[in-house]
Amino acid sequence: MDTRMASIGDAAALTRVLRDIIDHTGRERPSDDAFVIRQYLANPASIRCTVALDAAGEIIGFQSLIRAKAGNRYDVPEGWGIIGTHISPRAHRQGGGSALFRSSREAAEQAGLERIDACIATGNASGLRYYEAMGFRTYRESTGIVQKLYGVRPVRLIHLCQAAMMSDHSPACRVGTAANGLSTTG
Ligand SMILES: CC(C)(COP(=O)(O)OP(=O)(O)OC[C@H]1O[C@@H](n2cnc3c(N)ncnc32)[C@H](O)[C@@H]1OP(=O)(O)O)[C@@H](O)C(=O)NCCC(=O)NCCS
Repeated sequence: MDTRMASIGDAAALTRVLRDIIDHTGRERPSDDAFVIRQYLANPASIRCTVALDAAGEIIGFQSLIRAKAGNRYDVPEGWGIIGTHISPRAHRQGGGSALFRSSREAAEQAGLERIDACIATGNASGLRYYEAMGFRTYRESTGIVQKLYGVRPVRLIHLCQAAMMSDHSPACRVGTAANGLSTTG
């Protein structure tokens, strides 16, 4: 599937993707053009926002990668990447999410990011499976939320967990299976 970097002119198409997902899942979330521009297309913390295109060149999904700021909502350590993926239900399991992650991973390397966090609702089975398939592993769980971690460069996962727990007061750190260069042993 083709991808390209998103631009401001894509706002309406990204909003449609979010609304398609809401219609499909019933999970409410902000989904208007102003939100899309603020959060994804003109966010000063953005590293890259990539769109995926179907055979007709229509946008069927997007992925945003931003740099975590201090005091962010999910307590992601400052300087890590935060990733979000949104594919219209009409295009699921067609490789769009995988193509988007190739672009985001490249952007992460170019930006010198070492770690990327993905926040997923506990009940979102496809989101959990997708990020696992991309090489993310669970490092933190709290009420209703699973946080998965991707090491852009080979790093020891146990060290990443320790770093995360230093900024985290309660949730457990679960070490996953080694992948993408992450090691489960200290
Ligand atoms: C999760 C999501 C991003 C996956 O996107 P996608 O374009 O369907 O993903 P891909 O087709 O590239 O799938 C890549 C791999 O992820 C895994 N995967 C994706 N969806 C899956 C599902 N529903 N069940 C099991 N595995 C799944 C598979 O290993 C898949 O490889 P395969 O198809 O060769 O088996 C998409 O379903 C989506 O946008 N959902 C709504 C929003 C969301 O949940 N975002 C992520 C969490 S916040």
